[in-house]
Amino acid sequence: MLANLLKESKRTIVYTGAGMSTESGLPDFRSAKTGMWEMEDPSKVASVTALNHHVEQFFQFYKHRVVAAKETGPHKGHEILAKWEHQGLINGIITQNVDGFHTMAGSNNIMELHGTLRKVHCESCGEVYGNERYEQDDFYCDCGGKLRPSVVLFGEMLPEEPFIQSIVESERADLFIVLGSSLTVTPANQFPIMAKQAGAKLVIINMEPTEMDHLADLVIHERKIGEVLKEADDSLTSKFY
Ligand code: APR
Repeated sequence: MLANLLKESKRTIVYTGAGMSTESGLPDFRSAKTGMWEMEDPSKVASVTALNHHVEQFFQFYKHRVVAAKETGPHKGHEILAKWEHQGLINGIITQNVDGFHTMAGSNNIMELHGTLRKVHCESCGEVYGNERYEQDDFYCDCGGKLRPSVVLFGEMLPEEPFIQSIVESERADLFIVLGSSLTVTPANQFPIMAKQAGAKLVIINMEPTEMDHLADLVIHERKIGEVLKEADDSLTSKFY
């Protein structure tokens, strides 16, 4: 059914969350037992308060995430999405993920709603550096200011450009596919609703139920994203030839 929806659709947007990267070995945030927020309190390590008042914990938390993301990379599912974009089957990816795996897999039209771990910038002067600074425990700018990953922290606004572009893409889509998100964090979780209200068909592929399953035209639970994408791709490939 997913393969047919992709073939029939004129404009398809894919929306990914942390569940897109667990098969690369990175934990998500809210899965029971393994989710990052099961072990850490986000307000203590991933917020503006943490940057200002618990800066050593902040540095160590993000150093760990920078190193973990660099030790792995995109999996087959990321590569299939990049291939589908090149084949014209999908038109863009709205992602909450900061690991940069969609870019590494070769996708082009990517809207990084929550920024990226790939860069860090100075809290004081804004100077941008590669994230190897964090790998080398170098947490301060040449100007003396604190370096922080170029991700959206709890308590911060989302970057305007990807946010505006995501609104435009969500309202133009006739198929909107959610992959691996609990859809619990605003405002990122508004785009599936926007797409549905603008007339798109909504597909949610997620191991566990989400708060928006009732809006979806197709829901797939208890299946790994990588496997579902591979099956759809195999079915599309067999139909092409
Ligand atoms: N296949 C399918 N679904 C999966 C897989 C998988 N291999 N692995 C995990 N999932 C599902 C989980 O069941 C979970 O419901 O992915 C979902 C991930 O949800 P969250 O952990 O809440 O991640 P996400 O929705 O991306 O969180 C949004 O919260 O902390 C902030 O900024 C952070 O971008 C993040 C935002």
